[in-house]
This record gives sequence, structure tokens and C-alpha cells, in this order.
Amino acid sequence: MSYKRTEISQEDVKKQLDICREIKEGTHDSKRLALVDTFGCQQNEEDSEKIRGYLDAMGYAMTDDEFEADVIVINTCAVREHAEMRVFGNIGALSHTKKKKPGQIIAVCGCMVQQEHIAEKIKKSFPQVDLVFGPDELWRFPELLKTVMSTRRRIFARGKGDGCVVEGIPHMRSDKVKAWLSVMNGCNNFCSYCIVPYTRFRERSRRPDDILEEARSLVAEGYKEITLLGQNVNSYGRDLNCRVSFAQLIRMINDIDGDFVIRFMTSHPKDAHEELFAAMKDCEKCEKHLHLPLQAGSDRILKAMNRCYTAEKYLSLVDKVREYIPDIVLTTDIIVGFPGETDEDFEETMKVIEKVRYDAMFTFIYSKREGTPAAKMPDPFTREQKQVHFDRLLEVQNRISEEKHREYIGKTVRVLIDGRDREEGVLTGRTIGGRLVRTTGDESLIGSFTDVLIKDCNTWALRGDIARK
Ligand code: 5AD
Ligand code: SF4
Repeated sequence: MSYKRTEISQEDVKKQLDICREIKEGTHDSKRLALVDTFGCQQNEEDSEKIRGYLDAMGYAMTDDEFEADVIVINTCAVREHAEMRVFGNIGALSHTKKKKPGQIIAVCGCMVQQEHIAEKIKKSFPQVDLVFGPDELWRFPELLKTVMSTRRRIFARGKGDGCVVEGIPHMRSDKVKAWLSVMNGCNNFCSYCIVPYTRFRERSRRPDDILEEARSLVAEGYKEITLLGQNVNSYGRDLNCRVSFAQLIRMINDIDGDFVIRFMTSHPKDAHEELFAAMKDCEKCEKHLHLPLQAGSDRILKAMNRCYTAEKYLSLVDKVREYIPDIVLTTDIIVGFPGETDEDFEETMKVIEKVRYDAMFTFIYSKREGTPAAKMPDPFTREQKQVHFDRLLEVQNRISEEKHREYIGKTVRVLIDGRDREEGVLTGRTIGGRLVRTTGDESLIGSFTDVLIKDCNTWALRGDIARK
């Protein structure tokens, strides 16, 4: 596949930072506030950290109150219709905040607005929105915002082309223990149900040196968990001349001195190879967790989804990773009710699930996405019929997850304590396989690795006591 990889120059990024400074110095109002609301995946969370980074450089403090915010940014997701409906609901409600605060600037960005029909809908039906920009235009958010501020005209900036690579945008990170590190952006796979290749464009990898520099500074700042992000991390580096693979990248990050763990997502089964499993095994800092989206267990449906593997091939991959790491934590995504999925097809999915016995599963009912090939496929089954499959899937997975969690009882596991639970006095953490753990202990433990003796569990979490040294 040939496409143009566009790198935004450091000079262009510097111009954006200069605009931030201009905005900061240009207003005498000392208390300017901004709100950034995020929908969707971790990649979007990471994008929002950059938007906050820019806003911070412009002199804005963050708020959760949409009535007092001078600037509101809604970072949207397009993967399923449900999220889009919620976004429209939120944008609609902002007409009230704008009435109360007429100078308020409302921006909507992310995957949803990269779609032409959504941008048009906002243009026509949501006059309160001042600025719209797609994921690939994020790097020039300061320039776009400044134009809205100075002209008071509405701006619609949707990316065109293959997508760009940008370095040097400041982050305002939302956590002190866990950090996102985007290694690549975009997707070349064109699964027939998925909108992402149309909203985030083609795969492009950041250079290994830039990634390593960011990882080193995260470790130096005291972050304990670094999650490497990409739509399909296994194809990392294919667009670069330096030919560093994702497995090699994990090894390089593992070599950074410090007490931290490496996680990553997401892996497409068609590109997951032994080289990756060997790196996961060898690297003591790499979590023993693989999120390997199956989507469906019927070969007929997998073909229609353009997933490029069969159930048999997927199962042999699972066997292979378990040869390398016997106690690997495996999680997956399943779509129920893909166009034309019959009872027989669904039974094939159930068979794979019983064979693999995932630790956890994320299940979705198929959502028709305009512009994707699957949107044109006949979809004869009703929502109610799909719901029956969905409920059965959940019931079986809940049983398996609980059985797998029971195996932890009586074992002492190393846990990164990462925060406090809603329940008073309870701390939360993750095992090296990424399982959620609740325990009681002093808040000073947040950000440290602690041994926990597991005493109890449910479908979602383990519960235990801090082990005495
Ligand atoms: N409908 C339902 N689920 C979807 N996903 C992606 N596109 C759709 C869609 N159109 C799910 C897939 C993917 C996860 C992030 O979202 O399971 O792995
Ligand atoms: Fe993330 Fe995909 Fe949603 Fe965009 S459409 S926010 S890439 S899940």
C-alpha cells in the first residue's frame, strides 16, 4: 500500500506554541477556565491530554462545570451509534450554557466529526458549536481557536489525506501513576464494520527515538505504568525505514532503568507473531496480558468482517502464546449481530469462547456505521434476536471470568496500587496481568507495587489484603 507520510515540522508546532503564549499574554482576565470531555478509546484520552496541554499553555485552568467554562471541547468517538447519540445530547444541552455565558466557545473534535455527514449535521442543527476539527487537525488547535476568537466565525476543519505524525505537543496528563504513550496512529485494516480507518486515516508510526524519549521522561517523572497505544500495535514500524518492530520496541523500553510496567493495546490477531510473545516473556517489565480481539468465531462472518484469519488460526495463536507464557491473561472484543450472523454462526463464537476461556471480554452489539462496507450488507435479524445472543454470551463469560478469578484465591500477587475506590478506605490496583484488585491500606501506597494476598473475588475484580513482608 503506498501513501504519503506527512511529518509536521517542529517549526510548525512551535508556531502553535507561540499562539498559545500570545493567547495567554493577550488577555487580562486572570481566571480563564476550560472543560475537555472525552468519549471513546484510550487513544482519544491521550488526544485529550494534548488538548489540555495546549489549553494549559494558553493559560486556562480546568473545570468540570460547563456553566463556568470559557472554552468547552468535546472529544468524540464514532465507533458505535450509542456514543454518537450521547454526544449529540451533550452538545444540545450546551445551548443553555452558552445562553448564560454568551462568550463561551464550544469546540467538537475527534472521530465523529471527521465524518462529513456529522460535520454537516452540526453545521445545520447545532449553531452553538463554534469549532469542529478532526483527529488529524488536533495539532493546530491553537491556531483554529485563535481564529474563532478573533473573527467570531464558525470553523470546520476536517482532515484530508493520509494522516500526519506530530511531535512536541505538550501533554497535561490525567493520572500520576499511569500514562498513555501513543506509538502510532491510524489503521490500514479496513474491517468491514469499522469506521476508524476513515476517521484516523492510514497507519503511521512515531519514530523509536521519539517514543523512547517520551518513555524515559515518563519514568523520570515517576510514572509506574506505561500503556503503549495504537489501533494495531503489531504493525508498528512498517511505514518507517528504520524497521524497528513492535517486539523490538518493547525490548527497548524494557531496558529503561526504573520500577515500572509496560502494557499495550490493541493487537490484531492477523499480525500477532511469536516475536511478540517472546518479547513479552523475556521482558520482566512487560505485563503478561494480551488483548486479542476475536470479534466472531464463525469463519463465514470473519471473512465478511475482513478479519483475515479463521477460528482455527486464532486458536493456534492462543496455544502459541500460552506455550510462551502459560499464565497469560487473555481478553477479547466480540461483536454480536454482525449483518447476517445466524444462530449457527453465533454457536461458533461460543465454541471459541469455551475453548479459550478468556479472563475478560468486551462485548458489543453490531452498530451500523455509514460509509463502511458492512453498512451495505443485508441485516435481516432484529435487535431483539441479537440481544438474546448478547445476553447468552455475557452469561457464559461472566461464569468463566468468575471461575478464573477464583483460581487467584489464596495466592499472593504483585499489584500496582493506582487509586482509591468509591468505597471508603478501599484502594484499587492491577495485577501484572491487568486484573482489577481491591484492597484496604493507606493512601500513601498509591503509586507503589505491593504484594496482595487474594481472599475473595467476583466477575470483575479480586479482593485481598496487603501481604505482610
Ligand atoms: N459495531 C459494534 N462494535 C464495533 N467495534 C468496532 N466497530 C464496531 C461496530 N460498528 C468494536 C470492536 C472493536 C472495539 C474497539 O469496538 O469489537 O474491537
Ligand atoms: Fe477511538 Fe475508534 Fe472511537 Fe476514534 S472511533 S475514539 S479511534 S474507538
